[in-house]
Amino acid sequence: MERTMILCWFLLLCIPVAYGGYYSKTESLVSHLRKVTDLRFFFHGILGGENTTAVTVASANSSLLGPSNSIVVDHAPLTVGPEPTSKTIGNAQGLEVFAGRDTTTVVVYLGFGFTEGELNGSSISVFSRNPATETERELAVIGGRGKFKLAEGYALLKTIFISNTSLVVEYNVTVIHY
Ligand SMILES: *[C@@H]1O[C@H](CO)[C@@H](O)[C@H](O)[C@H]1NC(C)=O
Ligand SMILES: *[C@@H]1O[C@H](CO)[C@@H](O)[C@H](O)[C@H]1NC(C)=O
Ligand SMILES: *[C@@H]1O[C@H](CO)[C@@H](O)[C@H](O)[C@H]1NC(C)=O
Ligand SMILES: *[C@@H]1O[C@H](CO)[C@@H](O)[C@H](O)[C@H]1NC(C)=O
Ligand SMILES: *[C@@H]1O[C@H](CO)[C@@H](O)[C@H](O)[C@H]1NC(C)=O
Repeated sequence: MERTMILCWFLLLCIPVAYGGYYSKTESLVSHLRKVTDLRFFFHGILGGENTTAVTVASANSSLLGPSNSIVVDHAPLTVGPEPTSKTIGNAQGLEVFAGRDTTTVVVYLGFGFTEGELNGSSISVFSRNPATETERELAVIGGRGKFKLAEGYALLKTIFISNTSLVVEYNVTVIHY
C-alpha cells in the first residue's frame, strides 16, 4: 500500500517535470553545409478521358473577376524521359488556381513526390505563379521533405509537347537544402 502511494506521488510529481515544459533550443548553423541538388524529370498531363490527370473541382463565372475562375486538382506522373512510356519516378499532386482576370497565369500549389531510388519518400513543394502560356517559365520551390528538408530553389520549365488531350513539360529543378 505504502509503495503504491509512493509510486503514485512519484508519477504525479515527476512526469510533468520530465514531459511537460515549453522547449526551445537555438544553435548556430555554422557546422551545417548547405547542398545543392539538380533534378531533371518530365511532367505528363492528360486532359480529359478516363486517365485524366486534372479535374476542375470548383469554378465560377463572376463578372467581377472575369469569365472563368477555377480550381483544378492535379495528380500527374513524373518520368525520367519525355515519352509517356518512360520510367515513372514520382508524381505531382496539388492545385492549380486560375483567376479569370489574368488568363495567362496560373498559380500552382504542388507537391512533387519521388518514389524511386535514393529520393524515394522525399518531395519538393512548389507554390508559385506559372505563366503557363509561355513555352519556357520559372516556378519557385519553397520547401521540401526528406532529403529536401528546408529546401529553397527554382524550377525551369519547358513545354515540349501540347495538344488538346495531353501535355509534356520538362522540369530542371535546382534546390538548396541541408
Ligand atoms: C488508361 O490507362 C490504362 C492503363 O495504363 C490503359 O490501359 C488505357 O488504355 C488508358 N485509357 C486511355 C483512354 O488512354
Ligand atoms: C459568364 O457570364 C456572362 C454574363 O453573365 C455570360 O455572357 C458568359 O457567357 C458566361 N461565360 C461562361 C463561360 O459561362
Ligand atoms: C519507396 O518507399 C516506400 C515506403 O517506404 C516503399 O514501400 C517502397 O517499396 C519504396 N520503393 C522503392 C522503389 O524503393
Ligand atoms: C534542362 O537541362 C538540360 C540539360 O542541361 C537542357 O538540355 C535543357 O534545355 C534544360 N531545360 C530547361 C527547361 O531548362
Ligand atoms: C482542339 O480544340 C479546338 C478547340 O476546342 C478545336 O477547334 C480543335 O479542332 C481541336 N484539335 C484537335 C486535334 O482535336
